[in-house]
Amino acid sequence: MKHLLSAADLSHEQALKILDTAEAMAMTQSRQVKKLPTLRGKTVVNLFFEDSTRTRISFETAAKRLSADVINFSAKGSSVSKGESLKDTALTLQAMRVDGIVIRHRFSGAAYRLAHAGWSDVPVINAGDGNHQHPTQALLDAMTLRRHYWGARGGELAGKDLKGAKVVIVGDILHSRVARSNVDLMGTLGAQVTLVGPPTLMPVGVEDWNCDFTYDFDTALNTEPDAVMMLRVQNERMSAAGGGFFPSVGEYHRAYGLDRSRFERLPEKTVIMHPGPMNRGMEICAEAADSPQSVVVEQVGNGVNIRMSVLYLLLAPEGGLL
Ligand code: CP
Repeated sequence: MKHLLSAADLSHEQALKILDTAEAMAMTQSRQVKKLPTLRGKTVVNLFFEDSTRTRISFETAAKRLSADVINFSAKGSSVSKGESLKDTALTLQAMRVDGIVIRHRFSGAAYRLAHAGWSDVPVINAGDGNHQHPTQALLDAMTLRRHYWGARGGELAGKDLKGAKVVIVGDILHSRVARSNVDLMGTLGAQVTLVGPPTLMPVGVEDWNCDFTYDFDTALNTEPDAVMMLRVQNERMSAAGGGFFPSVGEYHRAYGLDRSRFERLPEKTVIMHPGPMNRGMEICAEAADSPQSVVVEQVGNGVNIRMSVLYLLLAPEGGLL
């Protein structure tokens, strides 16, 4: 595999290799000197056409921990604001002989286009394209869940998947690349995924996805899931589509929020996940977000481990590791 564009492209073996390598990377990060020489001499460009905090900073941290040089590009303040196209931006980077491109874009398919249009011949990593895919988010979610799922059962993590784990993903499924990526990856790893959301925020054709779905959050909670993943309500994408997806914030919170009463019903084993950024008081209450069952901050930390793993496997001088 040359590029990482979609969680759906990962085989069971490739997904486990990324997770196991991320665990090996994590072990190096408790040392006093965290930097490894692995990608010395390589240049990675973070090409961000859409806002990001966690993904951009963790890709930068990961590349620097592997000793790569990092160039951060954001559309704001670049020639994109003068109308430059993705093609011409890519040709510019190609001329500067960069070694890898991490791209986030508001249009679904932008990462695929960059990888396959012939504008660039280096590995491309999709850091989120529209409502399509965010594969490294799904990988860091799987890393976090694997630790808790198997942590409770004891034993080595290496080579273990998520067979038997129950994951409930709740909220704005329609606009969520995180939901799509997790349905793909969690399915490959053997977890049973249930999507929950209002009919207006459930994608057309969801019945053909490799998961269950329901409009009733409380019914889904009765299955005693190992993880409840709350999704951000993507107000910016809803406004762009004209709004009207639910009557009010209060009604959304009552039907689909992880409020105090649902939080108190969760079994002790259930971890609370959220990709961030969180709308506190909308999809999740503060008690749940800040509780010991919340692994939201752990997810962010694992983002660095997963991105170190992916950068290493795709860009290491020996090549062809994935
Ligand atoms: N989870 C996630 O993609 O967060 P950012 O938008 O902050 O990168």
